[in-house]
Amino acid sequence: MGEPNSRQLCLASLLLFVLIHSCKIAAQNVAVTAKPDIILKGLTTSLAFNCTFEDGAVYSLVSLKVSRALNSETIGQGYEELASVNSFSSSNLVNTSRENLTVSSSFAASGLSFLSLVWHSSDDLWTGTYKCEADFLDLTGHPKQVSNSAYVSGVSHESQMLVDEILSLKEENKVRETEALSYKELLLSFIASWNMKKNQTRDIIFTQSQEFNGSIYLLSRANVFDNTGVAQAICEIYDSKLAEIESNEELEFVQDFMKNNTDLFYFYYIIIGGVNNEGVNGTWVSPDSGLPLDYLNWAPGYPNKDTYAKCLGLWSYVDWKMVNVNCFKESLDWPKKFICERTLQE
Ligand SMILES: *[C@@H]1O[C@H](CO)[C@@H](O)[C@H](O)[C@H]1NC(C)=O
Ligand SMILES: *[C@@H]1O[C@H](CO)[C@@H](O)[C@H](O)[C@H]1NC(C)=O
Ligand SMILES: *[C@@H]1O[C@H](CO)[C@@H](O)[C@H](O)[C@H]1NC(C)=O
Ligand SMILES: *[C@@H]1O[C@H](CO)[C@@H](O)[C@H](O)[C@H]1NC(C)=O
Ligand SMILES: *[C@@H]1O[C@H](CO)[C@@H](O)[C@H](O)[C@H]1NC(C)=O
Ligand SMILES: *[C@@H]1O[C@H](CO)[C@@H](O)[C@H](O)[C@H]1NC(C)=O
Ligand SMILES: *[C@@H]1O[C@H](CO)[C@@H](O)[C@H](O)[C@H]1NC(C)=O
Repeated sequence: MGEPNSRQLCLASLLLFVLIHSCKIAAQNVAVTAKPDIILKGLTTSLAFNCTFEDGAVYSLVSLKVSRALNSETIGQGYEELASVNSFSSSNLVNTSRENLTVSSSFAASGLSFLSLVWHSSDDLWTGTYKCEADFLDLTGHPKQVSNSAYVSGVSHESQMLVDEILSLKEENKVRETEALSYKELLLSFIASWNMKKNQTRDIIFTQSQEFNGSIYLLSRANVFDNTGVAQAICEIYDSKLAEIESNEELEFVQDFMKNNTDLFYFYYIIIGGVNNEGVNGTWVSPDSGLPLDYLNWAPGYPNKDTYAKCLGLWSYVDWKMVNVNCFKESLDWPKKFICERTLQE
């Protein structure tokens, strides 16, 4: 009827090897996992890999090896070996010359084998591609190799700036007490929970809206007093960007969402996506795409002539219409929150 499937092929090979071998359906497989798979320089303190080789059909495992691409730009051109274990070395000693790397392994000619690496130095953590290779002998005694890779990424430049800022905040205590409380609340929850699932952290940092026109809006719970670049970076970490308002309907939805989630006693500013690097006479553009914003719904008298007010916000005092605000410091009485927009996938 159709093409022979793997079970039929396996049964065929079973006919050939029935007297000497057993036969299983699965093929040889090597897997590599990396935890965490995102590195925050300065905050991430260890990195663990586990390379596992599973028993498939009949084979004899010869070696397991973990290596990493020498340079992210030259993937495929060169890997450096980090650790290996093979069936020749007495008692299967792991071969590694690395400091700050703890290696453990379990090696068996058949069954489950693994080679695990834990990197302890935060100075030495590298992003890039890590490869795990298994060399084995197949049914007919021919050498074969299977491999798999795990990619460890870093965060973007902006997000790393956020992390650096958190680190310096932890050291200096220059910010005013009340200011620090609110700011630190946001950032420390970010640090403390970085290793938690991203979704859980998101719920600590943001209040989420209902869906509107294919997007979810995320309103920061704590205030940001410092700089909107930080807001942008946090949005980015959560697969979103500073909300860009494109219609009256969208503005009304966002206003409603904010009113439901802000304290009426404060004159809140809400930072949204929009910057103007040329001062009040320049064009307002999206910080994300750099394209001019088509929809602007200014409060009377805005944008004002404050040359430092080059970011776009909504302000409770003017019925949540658009105003230009300082991208950096703002008075404590007029706290700033920010709103991110995440586009839902189809
Ligand atoms: C690596 O993975 C194997 C298979 O899942 C597991 O038995 C082993 O404990 C893991 N090693 C470490 C160090 O986590
Ligand atoms: C041990 O690993 C190094 C590379 O890290 C390699 O040059 C050397 O040949 C290996 N030694 C053995 C016995 O496999
Ligand atoms: C090992 O870790 C220590 C402490 O983080 C660091 O000073 C040292 O340079 C590391 N060694 C290597 C070879 O990276
Ligand atoms: C995390 O959130 C995303 C977007 O809301 C969702 O698609 C995903 O299923 C969530 N993951 C978990 C583990 O809850
Ligand atoms: C809904 O989203 C689309 C695509 O971004 C946009 O073109 C449209 O203007 C939005 N509609 C409203 C009512 O905001
Ligand atoms: C705001 O709250 C009202 C009343 O609870 C609710 O009907 C409405 O859907 C909320 N709007 C948004 C955008 O969250
Ligand atoms: C904006 O344009 C007006 C009219 O051309 C001009 O008088 C004013 O000085 C400009 N302001 C700035 C900040 O460039």
